[in-house]
Amino acid sequence: MSKLYIKTFGCQMNEYDSSKMADVLKASHGYELTADAQEADLLLFNTCSVREKAQEKVFSELGKWKDWKAARPGRVIGVGGCVASQEGESLARRARIVDMVFGPQTLHRLPALLEQTRRTHQPAVDVRFPEIEKFDNLPEPRAEGPTAFVSIMEGCSKYCSFCIVPYTRGEEMSRPLDDVLAEVASLLDQGVREITLLGQNVNAYRGTMADGGVCDLALLIHILARLPTLGRIRFTTSHPAEFSDALIEAYVVEPKLASGVHLPVQSGSDRILGMMKRGYTRAQFLDKIRRLRQARPDLALSSDFIIGFPGETEEDFEQTMALIEEARCDAAYSFIYSPRPGTPAANLRDTVPLAVKQQRLDRLQARIRQLGEEFARKLVGSTQTVLVERTARREGQLSGKTPCNRPLNFDGPESLIGQFVAVQVTEALTNSLRGRLVGTA
Ligand code: SAM
Ligand code: F3S
Repeated sequence: MSKLYIKTFGCQMNEYDSSKMADVLKASHGYELTADAQEADLLLFNTCSVREKAQEKVFSELGKWKDWKAARPGRVIGVGGCVASQEGESLARRARIVDMVFGPQTLHRLPALLEQTRRTHQPAVDVRFPEIEKFDNLPEPRAEGPTAFVSIMEGCSKYCSFCIVPYTRGEEMSRPLDDVLAEVASLLDQGVREITLLGQNVNAYRGTMADGGVCDLALLIHILARLPTLGRIRFTTSHPAEFSDALIEAYVVEPKLASGVHLPVQSGSDRILGMMKRGYTRAQFLDKIRRLRQARPDLALSSDFIIGFPGETEEDFEQTMALIEEARCDAAYSFIYSPRPGTPAANLRDTVPLAVKQQRLDRLQARIRQLGEEFARKLVGSTQTVLVERTARREGQLSGKTPCNRPLNFDGPESLIGQFVAVQVTEALTNSLRGRLVGTA
């Protein structure tokens, strides 16, 4: 049996794509996934180029695999994802050990690329964006437990001035509604109870319907909520400008829609938001959050922040800190701005010293941590509906997530895996909650 090892960098979209690479290669060549690279015959890197470090890591990682390849001729190395998409053929020239280069939209062509490189002994490269072809050529989804991801759209057309994604993943492209429903139905048949709809800008979803109409994310949620065995719906990542009134309304009328929202804001300063070309103001973002909280009082809000965008002043940063308080952000991904070659912001003069950026980042992260801890402490005593996902690390304990997406561990029998149960929160730890099973939901 041939073995496949995949190393994934970057976002949830990449995690999803990696699982699809494994599915494709299992179906075509019978590859089995292994967690031990040393026993693998095929090694894939699913790369990310959103920040500099992510990109550098790929090349330093590739350097380590020379001996691995030399030890057994016939071993194959493939590089996919956003770095591959950006570098194309030059990647195989720069790193001679690479046999295949494929982009986020051509991973379904892996079997053909593998055959090609074996036949020609030359690198096989395909980093095109062939419309929505990818989804039509993926094997049936395989459920692994009671939760699953379903990618409903690809790419991004927002062209924020700092971001490489529209260039590496292509423009926004939505899967037709019927395709999405067929994938969801297949997962539900396999016992899935919770679906997370995925997309780089998932609320920009505009799927064509059989009658020629267009289905947006709000309508898709209403349709999915009618499926009796589907208990919970999540979606990520969304864009503030696409967070429509209809989507906010869905939080009022659809209890299956989970209370955790991830809504990247990037900055609290209108001046910086303008330079970033985000397409909304601070007031517009805060207004959406206010209405979301009205619709769903127990809302948990996480966001993304970029610190030290070129020209960010102390005053701009203070506005970001103030926005965190106003929006009551309880979790965040935050990073120092990283210039991406080929993006408009890369041409801006960066005047903020690194030490200042680092101080600002530390301050923001410390405050978010505090707000997260406060949020978790408030949950103590409440009863949460939890979908039991698996056994926890500690013997006899089960693990699941609250509607607001916090991990919650509690004592219970394994037979509850895959069921919704009621758990009373008894303790808030740093990264998880502890609770006591009080009933089945
Ligand atoms: N669709 C999302 C949105 O509405 O902003 C963002 C997706 S983006 C791939 C994920 C995150 O990466 C962004 O929210 C941003 O915080 C971060 N990011 C993107 N480009 C970056 C850069 N050049 N430097 C630092 N962080 C960056
Ligand atoms: Fe990037 Fe902005 Fe799209 S951050 S993924 S260009 S919404």
